[in-house]
Amino acid sequence: MLLAGLRGFITGAGSGIGRAIALEMVREGVDLAITDIDLKSAQKVAGEAQAQRADARVWAAQLDVRDAASVTERVEEAARRMGGLELAVNNAGVSSMKRVVDLTEADWDFNMDINAKGIFLCCQAEVRYFLRQGRRDITRSIVNTASMAGKKAAPLLAHYSASKFAVIGFTQALPISEASPPKKYARITCALSPWADWKNQKMWRAWWFFCSATAPPT
Ligand SMILES: NC(=O)c1ccc[n+]([C@@H]2O[C@H](COP(=O)([O-])OP(=O)(O)OC[C@H]3O[C@@H](n4cnc5c(N)ncnc54)[C@H](O)[C@@H]3O)[C@@H](O)[C@H]2O)c1
Repeated sequence: MLLAGLRGFITGAGSGIGRAIALEMVREGVDLAITDIDLKSAQKVAGEAQAQRADARVWAAQLDVRDAASVTERVEEAARRMGGLELAVNNAGVSSMKRVVDLTEADWDFNMDINAKGIFLCCQAEVRYFLRQGRRDITRSIVNTASMAGKKAAPLLAHYSASKFAVIGFTQALPISEASPPKKYARITCALSPWADWKNQKMWRAWWFFCSATAPPT
């Protein structure tokens, strides 16, 4: 097991990429707080994770990443229950496809609040916890889920692209923007995921081609 003994926290882990990351973390030895806005889905994933490794400490919690107080409470609770925290995966995100002329303010706010503000609130709570712990000899990491759309704009995704560009900019700025830089306390990075809706291969192939101008892998 690559990550034995480490303690982790993940958001948006009730389905998709977050679920897959949570299961892999637990398989590799991490004790994990599995959170999602949808408690039932988080509980289901926690059950699957526990079934993979009986001695893992895993539990599910409801968390809306737009709610600053709840984010802090959940991060602190995770650290308290496990006696520490070394890994955080800020993965919760939403997407939709619309022409800019059809986008409503509500669409924009919903997308930015979860994808961009949610990352800020989670990182802030996690870095505050790390800085409070103070010890630099411990390996700590934060991974923020961004997207290929945060590197290259694409049709119908202006609002989503804007939020994911924000995630990448914020993630790059965070380690250098404190008087006592968090980079001394944690590795902070972005995950860029290509299209992972495997049920919709056609879209994924088109997206891959658009981004890389090469044929996608089969
Ligand atoms: N699927 C892809 O192709 C793809 C590509 C690039 C990046 N991403 C990013 O990966 C992440 C996961 O995407 P996915 O495809 O697995 O999506 P998904 O919809 O399967 O999973 C997202 C999870 O986030 C949860 N969630 C939604 N709003 C929330 C909130 N306010 N607070 C907490 N949890 C909330 C949902 O309940 C869901 O379980 C997102 O950040 C997404 O932008 C996905």
